[in-house]
This record gives sequence, C-alpha cells and structure tokens, in this order.
Amino acid sequence: MNEINQMASQAKVWIFEMSQMIRTTSKNSLIIDTKTSASDLVTNVDKEVEKFFKENIKKTYPEHLLLGEEGLGDEIVDSNGTIWILDPIDGTTNFIHQQRNFAISLGVFRDGKPLFGFVYDVMRDDLFHAICGEGAFLNETRLAPLKEKKISDALITMNSKWLVENGRLDDELLRNMVKDVRETRSYGSCAIEMSYVAAGMLDGYLSAKIAPWDIAGAWVIGNEVGAIATEIDGTAKDVFGYGGIVFAAPGVHKELIRNYVRGI
Ligand code: IPD
Ligand code: CA
Ligand code: CA
Repeated sequence: MNEINQMASQAKVWIFEMSQMIRTTSKNSLIIDTKTSASDLVTNVDKEVEKFFKENIKKTYPEHLLLGEEGLGDEIVDSNGTIWILDPIDGTTNFIHQQRNFAISLGVFRDGKPLFGFVYDVMRDDLFHAICGEGAFLNETRLAPLKEKKISDALITMNSKWLVENGRLDDELLRNMVKDVRETRSYGSCAIEMSYVAAGMLDGYLSAKIAPWDIAGAWVIGNEVGAIATEIDGTAKDVFGYGGIVFAAPGVHKELIRNYVRGI
C-alpha cells in the first residue's frame, strides 16, 4: 500500500470511530449554540469530532495541517503542504432536528492537488469515497463517469434560500430554472448533495456562498467521475476559496451557467 492509500485507510478508521460516537450520542445530551446567525448552528458533537481529528492528525502526521469548520485546526495561509479539510458534521441543522441526513466530510490535498476524499452519511451508512486517479465509489460500488445531460432531464439541488431575494444571485433566473428542470431537491447537506451529483442521483448543485469544508470531500469524489466545478460566473473553482459553486454533470453545468446562475 502506498503512502496515500495508507493515509486514506487511516482516515476511514477515524471517520468510522467518530460515526460510532455520533450514533450513540443521545439527542438530549446535545449542547446547541448559534454562530453567525440564528440559523448557523453548532453542537458539542461537531466540536468533539473536529478535536478528535486534530489530535489524531497531529499525532500521526505532525507536519500535516487541518482546516476545519469549527476553527480548532491551523491557520491556513496558502495551499502548500498536506492539508486535511474537514467538516465534522455537514448538515448540523438536520443533525439537531432530524438525527439523520448529515455527513462527515473530509478532503485531503497536497500542494493544492487532491489526494483523497470521503463523505460519510452517518445514519444511512453510505460512504462516498475516492482516491485521486483510482475512481470514485459509493460503498463498494464504483461510480460511473457522468454523461452529458440536458437541463430538462435534470434534478437540481440547492438551498432554497437562493430562490428568494438574497443579494448574491439573480433569484428570478433561478425561479425560471425551477420551471425548466425536471424537479428540484434540497437535502440540507452540501456534502451529501454534491456526492449525489457525483453518483448520478442528482445532476447539479449550486450555492453562491460555500466554504472549503462543505465541498472538499465531494469535490475530490466528483473529480473522478467528470463532475464540473466552477464559481458561479463559470471561472475555475478554487477548493480553498470562499466563493460560490456550480457543481454539475456536463451539459447541465453549461446550461446552468449560460441561462440561470447569475451573480448580482
Ligand atoms: C451547511 C449545509 C447546508 C448549506 C450551507 C452549509 P453545516 O453546512 O451544507 O446544506 O446550505 O451553506 O453551511 O453548517 O451544516 O456544516
Ligand atoms: Ca457544512
Ligand atoms: Ca458543519
């Protein structure tokens, strides 16, 4: 097993260990705080997962860096070195309200290039994973390369807040998109939604404001099957950036950028 395969299998062990902890945590013992707004939630479990990764990464790979949502990791100034990008729980609102539909998301990059990615839907026991250059998988099943698709045949997912006045995206164009696509969905976990795009279960995900930890794991997975990732203006997506994302199957991506996704 080479170094990257070893790191990925170590990461998987840590993900499963934390998943076990999450599953056995009682709903009643959750300590819930808000961050930037009343809808930006965090729990003691989010922090505990990130702390566990920080301690284990530092012990096992002292020279590696961690970029985590809860801020327990390192200050990242550029993409040099090996950087673990972690969302300890993506879909925290679902975790609190539903105790399902949330994931641990991890993408590992070296000098800006993807090494491997994991998105683990904890309650469904669905592990999306990819090692760069070795294909992408849902559990043991290899994901097929994405095929060219038309918007009229597409299922598109996003946070429905983008459909009302939002200061970033032209909401009228997006409402046109809702009329033109086959149907829309909203699951409340960017990592799961992007993984579904990679798996061909959905055809496009978009957001005008998303952080590296939301996208890193699924971005690596999508890369392996030909998902296209750009900023909302169609320029190349930097996984370390804090802009937007249009992440879609070929064809669908083109139509989204050309006709429906416009910054204001
Ligand atoms: C959020 C979820 C949500 C997306 C938000 C993210 P969190 O992550 O992925 O679906 O719309 O932009 O911040 O806060 O649950 O980790
Ligand atoms: Ca997130
Ligand atoms: Ca989170």
